[in-house]
Amino acid sequence: MNLLARAKINLMLEVLGKRQDGYHELMMIMQSVDIYDKIELEYDDEPSIRLECNWTEIADSQNLAYRAAQLFFKEIKTEGGCIIRIEKHIPMQAGLAGGSTDAAAVLLGLNELLDARLSTERLQQMANQLGSDVAFCLFGGTKLAQGRGEQLTALENLDLSLLIIKPSENISTKAVFDLLEPQDYSDGSSTRSFIQALKKQDRNQVFGRMVNHLYPKSLRFAPTMQSIITQLENDFGCQKAMMSGSGSTVFGIFDSASAREAAYEYFAKRYEKVFKTRTHPHSITMTR
Ligand code: C5P
Repeated sequence: MNLLARAKINLMLEVLGKRQDGYHELMMIMQSVDIYDKIELEYDDEPSIRLECNWTEIADSQNLAYRAAQLFFKEIKTEGGCIIRIEKHIPMQAGLAGGSTDAAAVLLGLNELLDARLSTERLQQMANQLGSDVAFCLFGGTKLAQGRGEQLTALENLDLSLLIIKPSENISTKAVFDLLEPQDYSDGSSTRSFIQALKKQDRNQVFGRMVNHLYPKSLRFAPTMQSIITQLENDFGCQKAMMSGSGSTVFGIFDSASAREAAYEYFAKRYEKVFKTRTHPHSITMTR
């Protein structure tokens, strides 16, 4: 079984408040992008899970893909095991849900490979046990995500041309959320007006509404994001530039192919991880 597991960006991220369980109540617009990890899944009679990865430092039992397989075998009460081979391309600790999308791919892939026929609802419940973004990664596309991030509503697909830049600083999502204070909370009105603008197909209004309320806190961990965003918007004529998730990835939306190319030429010389890509209507693609 071969899978492509795509990354996501956040076109919007609002924090509504802190919950009793320690998580934050969110309102986000999540969007799949065509940057992917390649995953190969193989069934194994031996009741053990083996994980191989080109980034050896994450090839261990703490990897979310490994934990997804563990959870899957527990759920179907089967003694079997599997081999997971991940060719990683999505940067880590980047706000791109790289670990979450690999986990989602393992859940969907094992369900198919073992013909286990677990319902979408059960897969979603398992996804939620693994992390807040995993449920989105089961589906992908353009979605409103609420609650911890697991309550999903489909929106009209957006087709956007993007430049994605990951500065060298890595950011822990938990560290950013821990810095939030009550004055950072909002009421979700920006997200609601984003959705209205999307319904009207008014791209300029859509871009005008986009905001990420984690940005001021994340900036403390990766101050270079500020100059990247300013340069993308002021020097390279991109429609909108902002941070994804809790950072440190920054993305720019371009209308003009030549403007994006000029920005790519500039940033690829200065940062190691720069991607020319597009939005994508799905997260996971499977082939036997
Ligand atoms: O759910 P996940 O493990 O991806 O979340 C990582 C961390 O981000 C959590 O431990 C929590 O500190 C923070 N978080 C949060 N509220 C959310 C999602 C994540 O506070 N809705």
